[in-house]
Amino acid sequence: MIPYGAIVSSYLVAAVLFILSLGGLSTQKTARRGNLYGIIGMALAIAATTMLILGKVQFPEGLAENFSGVLLNDSTTSTVFAVVIGLGALIGAILAARVGMTSMPELVAILHSFVGLAAVLVGISTYMGSGIQVAVGGEMVHNIEIYLDVFIGSITFTGSVLAFLKLRGSVSGKPLTLPGRHLLNLVLVGTCIYLSFGFVTADGHTAVQSLLWMTLIAGVIGFHMVAAIGGADMPVVVSMLNSYSGWAAAAAGFMLKNDLLIVTGALVGSSGAILSYIMCRAMNRSFISVILGGFGTDGGGGGGSTRSQDQGEVTTFDVEEAVEAMRDASDIIIIPGYGMAVAQAQHSLSQVVDFLKDKGKKVRFGIHPVAGRLPGHMNVLLAEANVDYDLVLEMDEINADFPDTDLVLVIGANDIVNPDALEDPNSPIAGMPVLEVWKSELVVVMKRSMGTGYAGVQNPLFFKDNTRMLFGDAKVVVDQLLTGLRSD
Ligand code: TAP
Repeated sequence: MIPYGAIVSSYLVAAVLFILSLGGLSTQKTARRGNLYGIIGMALAIAATTMLILGKVQFPEGLAENFSGVLLNDSTTSTVFAVVIGLGALIGAILAARVGMTSMPELVAILHSFVGLAAVLVGISTYMGSGIQVAVGGEMVHNIEIYLDVFIGSITFTGSVLAFLKLRGSVSGKPLTLPGRHLLNLVLVGTCIYLSFGFVTADGHTAVQSLLWMTLIAGVIGFHMVAAIGGADMPVVVSMLNSYSGWAAAAAGFMLKNDLLIVTGALVGSSGAILSYIMCRAMNRSFISVILGGFGTDGGGGGGSTRSQDQGEVTTFDVEEAVEAMRDASDIIIIPGYGMAVAQAQHSLSQVVDFLKDKGKKVRFGIHPVAGRLPGHMNVLLAEANVDYDLVLEMDEINADFPDTDLVLVIGANDIVNPDALEDPNSPIAGMPVLEVWKSELVVVMKRSMGTGYAGVQNPLFFKDNTRMLFGDAKVVVDQLLTGLRSD
């Protein structure tokens, strides 16, 4: 038997490890350590909770009753519990091992839906099974905790499932803009508030009915909210749902009287909200306008219509010409984007960088905060290819250097280097800060065609006098550049 104090201490240590983990994840150099803290914290939390619910804990006088509803006392339920945890861990490990970097937002979205569903199921079963002992007079507060938990959980569940389907392309990324949709949302939220009175004041059948109706309506709110948001805003939606899933977990923590769940939920909730805010700033979207929806296109990267006719002719480079330009340049900046991730060109690119640095050239990377399809996407890929961290600069650190740069290599990036964001107030990406690559002496853009990027808009950069298009798959082209550079 483990003393109850050991469980409480484990929760405290786990909470501290989660905070250290978030701190570590904030810089690339400490990210691995941050991940390790998170893994240890989560293992500790699961081990302590398992001991608790398997009844292997020596409770102090009078405390055991508080947990009577969650203890698994017979061997059958304990076996079911072990099988469920084992299966869950196995499926999670297989999914995480298999998922491609570009499909990560989908995986994150579907994982949020599980948190939402768990919050709904645990909330309803806590109410119906009354497994948690509540102090006399505390029933009202407990019921409000349950109601909030189920409300946020249900919004998170349906919203995340739809976000998953949109990111996979199974559902169109086009925003659903019903007439009077803000009013509809208001009526739905109002109905949930109205039902909450029925829930906390009534008993038995009526209260359960109010709870179930609210669950359904909150599900419609979550669905409608994400349906109204267009493809271009999906990254913000995913981190917003991340935040919701955190608040759902925190509400469940209050409901279940579990301090660790409260702390973890609050950490996830607030870090998701901060990330959403940072991403909104990077895309020049106000948080409120993202939540209210109605912006964005079909999204989905590549393809789409081109306006090349309106913008004149592009000038192309072949590989030899690009190699020549790289030999002539002494200050080079590389801008990676979604196409580098798709082509998996980072390893070859890392070798090109090593070669150029050996030749005494100044080579750096410029990273846009929303390059690729998930926060930190480019940083992860470059770290995987062992690119020196000191060469990787954020947009704000490098944007002023373009006028003094001889050559910019844009690899599979499009929206993040689109001058229209600054110059055309009618562009869907107007106001989004971009990497001002066109200010350098020469820009070589590597992509397969004149296809548009995620926002579905054509890019005037491709038609500028100092831009050369080098068409082809990023990996193939970078390999050819490497061979060309090495061949003399
Ligand atoms: P995009 O604007 O999507 O452009 C990527 C370009 O890569 C495409 O135009 C495509 O052109 C090219 N490409 C695709 N496959 C390629 C391959 N195998 N080889 C060479 N090129 C290839 O990407 P970006 O510049 O990185 O901008 C990111 C966009 O995604 C922004 O609009 C952002 O708002 C959005 N977004 C960001 C996130 C986060 S959090 N990072 C999440 C979701 C969405 P071709 O078809 O002509 O090759």
